[in-house]
Amino acid sequence: MAEPTIAPESNPLREALPRSRAPEPCALVLFGATGDLAHRKLVPALFNLYRGGNLPAECAVVCFGRRDWTDDDLRREYEKSLSKDGGPDFAQVWPEFAQRLVFAAGTFDDAESFANLKKKLEDLDRTHGTKGNRIFYLAVAPEFFEQIMEQLGGAGLVYDWQQDAPWSRVVIEKPFGHDLESARALSRSTARVLDESQVYRIDHYLGKETVQNILAFRFGNSIFEPIWNRRHVASVQITVAEEVGMAGGRGAYYETAGAIRDMVQNHMMQLLSLVAMEPPVDLSADAVRNEKVKVLQALPRWSPEDVYKNVVRAQYAAGSIEGEDVPGYLQEKGVAADSRTSPYVAIRLQLNNWRWAGVPFFLRTGKRLPKRATEIAIQFRRPPTELFDADAESEDESAGNQLVLRIQPNEGASLTFAAKIPGSRRRLQEVRMDFRYGTAFAAPPPEAYERLLLDVMLGDPTLFTRTDEVENAWRFITSILDAWNLPDAPPPDSYVAGSWGPEAADRLVKADGASWRRL
Ligand code: BG6
Repeated sequence: MAEPTIAPESNPLREALPRSRAPEPCALVLFGATGDLAHRKLVPALFNLYRGGNLPAECAVVCFGRRDWTDDDLRREYEKSLSKDGGPDFAQVWPEFAQRLVFAAGTFDDAESFANLKKKLEDLDRTHGTKGNRIFYLAVAPEFFEQIMEQLGGAGLVYDWQQDAPWSRVVIEKPFGHDLESARALSRSTARVLDESQVYRIDHYLGKETVQNILAFRFGNSIFEPIWNRRHVASVQITVAEEVGMAGGRGAYYETAGAIRDMVQNHMMQLLSLVAMEPPVDLSADAVRNEKVKVLQALPRWSPEDVYKNVVRAQYAAGSIEGEDVPGYLQEKGVAADSRTSPYVAIRLQLNNWRWAGVPFFLRTGKRLPKRATEIAIQFRRPPTELFDADAESEDESAGNQLVLRIQPNEGASLTFAAKIPGSRRRLQEVRMDFRYGTAFAAPPPEAYERLLLDVMLGDPTLFTRTDEVENAWRFITSILDAWNLPDAPPPDSYVAGSWGPEAADRLVKADGASWRRL
């Protein structure tokens, strides 16, 4: 039986969780506990949740791994990495949290390891009061997903949802497949063991406060929605720019992904869905995800020629960022000298639906760009007639009305509009209204993983990707990948590291009379 979705009153945009939404006792099993994600994000997020009083006292974190470790070895290891940024109360909180960290030795291909895990979890139900509730977090390479899920099923570690009975949920980290076919195969094998309501596919962008705020901005106000459509919007730009390259040995992974799989298929498709979706009937998980999936269904169906016309891929050449010389993509460790994989992608697309027909959406993402910045810019149409004199003294061409949602950094939003320059002439100048999270709200937003882990414990899947979202995004992305794989596909363009991307990307938007924002 499927777990019911969260009721409308469990509004995911609410600041503080009411007491009644405190998570139930549970054990969280971490596969990949010695990996980078667990060290940098997951265990710190669990620790912070515990420190903030957001985890139940009856909880346990079971780290499953190959090593020959005791619980104390595990605790020492994490104490070392967490104490670096532990905060003033670390020494006080750590010993309590550490009591809840447990090691389970085992390998993914060994049924006995999972039988032992089951026994360990039953022991924890007795010693830590975890009440049979389980979360399995698969922070592992995707080739292990199916194997682990089969083992969980085989050992009787996941069970169907029943009213007032213990529950089990599985969290999966991207990538969910590497193209449409493999994504469908993964959905099928997941469905053999789990009900969709038990699967939590993480896209950490959805855990970002500013990403959730896109919905609040659009549907918690009445002034934006009437103009959020083709009649008033000239174009939409979504940028996810990063300074980082392939540091930390990421080259080999990137060769299998490129920006199209690493950033566009997931994070950028999520941003696009939230910006372009219709209002949901309420904020329940399915209502929100139903509307998001409709946007992905409205993505264009492209021939290879359409792909070559509307998508630019590029690799960075050696350059410098903030005064530091950096190598080109092809010189990065783990990258083939003749690689065609691209750490930069720009896309021009239109959504085939009533609200957006004819409005170009420009998406770009890349590594080794001049700065880290994620934003969404809505460009409104110009007034139908020009009554005022243009600002002849300004060097910049006027951008007209533009609404920019800054996802990171300097989280906030700004609206540019024209104001009359004081004086006897009728000249206008662009001015800006600005909202900043940092000044409007006292408390810094929680880390994305804290929010998402808490939602898994609460059984709220709103901010997780449903299988039909994944597949519809892959359908579009796979048409691009297929075109790039053809023998006559144009090779990737090039840009100097530290610049804003290739010239071909400028030409892509120029055709619509637009230009990329200089952030
Ligand atoms: C990850 C990608 O999902 O997101 C990385 O694999 C990327 O390549 C990262 O750097 C960006 O996340 P954020 O939160 O820093 O914008």
